[in-house]
Amino acid sequence: MNVGVIGTGHVGLVTCASLAAFGHRVVGTDQDAEKIASLRSGRLPFHEPGLNGLTRDGVVAGRLSYTCDPEAAIESAEAVFISVGTPPRASGEANLVAVESAARTVARHARGPCVVIEKSTVPTGTARHLRRTLERERADRATRLEVVSNPEFLREGKAVGDALRPDRILVGAESEWGFETMRRLYAPLLAQGTPMIETNIATAELAKHACNAFLALKVSFANALSRLCERAGADVVSVVDVMGADPRIGRGHLDAGLGYGGSCFTKDLLAFDRLSSLLGYDFALLREIGKLNREATLTAFEKVREALWNLEDKRIAVLGLAFKPGTDDVRFSPGLELASMLLEAGAEVAGYDPEAATNAKAEVPDLLISPSPYDALAGAHCVVVSTEWDVIRNLDWATARDLMSYPVVVDGRNVVDPCVMAELGFAYLPMGRPAIL
Ligand code: UDX
Repeated sequence: MNVGVIGTGHVGLVTCASLAAFGHRVVGTDQDAEKIASLRSGRLPFHEPGLNGLTRDGVVAGRLSYTCDPEAAIESAEAVFISVGTPPRASGEANLVAVESAARTVARHARGPCVVIEKSTVPTGTARHLRRTLERERADRATRLEVVSNPEFLREGKAVGDALRPDRILVGAESEWGFETMRRLYAPLLAQGTPMIETNIATAELAKHACNAFLALKVSFANALSRLCERAGADVVSVVDVMGADPRIGRGHLDAGLGYGGSCFTKDLLAFDRLSSLLGYDFALLREIGKLNREATLTAFEKVREALWNLEDKRIAVLGLAFKPGTDDVRFSPGLELASMLLEAGAEVAGYDPEAATNAKAEVPDLLISPSPYDALAGAHCVVVSTEWDVIRNLDWATARDLMSYPVVVDGRNVVDPCVMAELGFAYLPMGRPAIL
């Protein structure tokens, strides 16, 4: 099939590459000419393992191309994905200006029957607005344009795997033609047994928010348990292992730490909360999830302050600035948030991250960037493990101790071996686990 993709960011580009891998002819378009120029020269605008190879395969096979001209991406397409940004407004509501603009573009340039697919996470009810925009802006009244919801379940750092081997494909449509078109788009996945869950559009839109809210709830539940464990002398890692052994609970997303970051959880919780109140339901639990998340990062800050007394003129190494390993994305990153709090408190902060350093420096100019973890550790009075990259998990702690001014470790992701800390004489402060003072 001919497929158009509007928006070539984290979601759009993975959508382009995976659909080309399924054998479709895909044209990706973006209003950011620099991004398109970069893609055309084979350079991705962000780090995502495996995406370089997958996009290159599509381009070499002649199934994937990029253009700044939306008409070229839409005119012969039977399906157009809208994968533009939906950032939170000040109110928390999702900003859907880019979504409306994309729909208008499709309506003006579609030359034949075309399914307009919501790939970006949007509040339920968006499809109604999209349908009206398509009606009003349609160039040719005879062209059949229909909205479909097909939310993405991509994790940054694992997006290629999540796109090529998804747990399920979720499709919300209003006609058999809509469902049939989506079955054709994902035929290779259906052939390998991936289930396609078919619902009405509002259901699909809402289910996406529900998934992210529940994943964030699991993380915040684990972080709340950490606060209790710290007071009870219990070990939250063992508690969640016990919980996760029950298949009704599942071990995933129960790792306590600095809290969740990334553009999805925070943004989707805000949008879901706003949407609920606009629908007349006070979904108070959603706000508690956010509160517990902020509490997790604040707790790590308090641990540093407790360990160092005054923070002025102290040097603190923050190892990990991306919101999670495997990405250079620093949006809502707890590690970067903590670095900012420490700078605010008068400390000197040396940050290290294998991929996200440039993005972090752009966000927090006062942050010192170290080319290696050991440079950050030199002379440090404390080190915070904030993103669990392998290079940070596998640090040589004996060398670290010799480099540091004080042997103090705040393990924001509970990835350092407490026995090693004890042997080397570190003061070790994990999250929700017994500390070594
Ligand atoms: C998430 C959802 O997983 C994905 O399905 C959705 O499409 C987009 O949002 P993503 O935000 O990329 O994906 O990453 P995820 O792996 O879910 O982690 C989100 C944040 O939670 C990260 O900051 C991570 O460090 C944190 N996290 C995750 C925890 O603190 N503990 C955990 O156990 C898991």
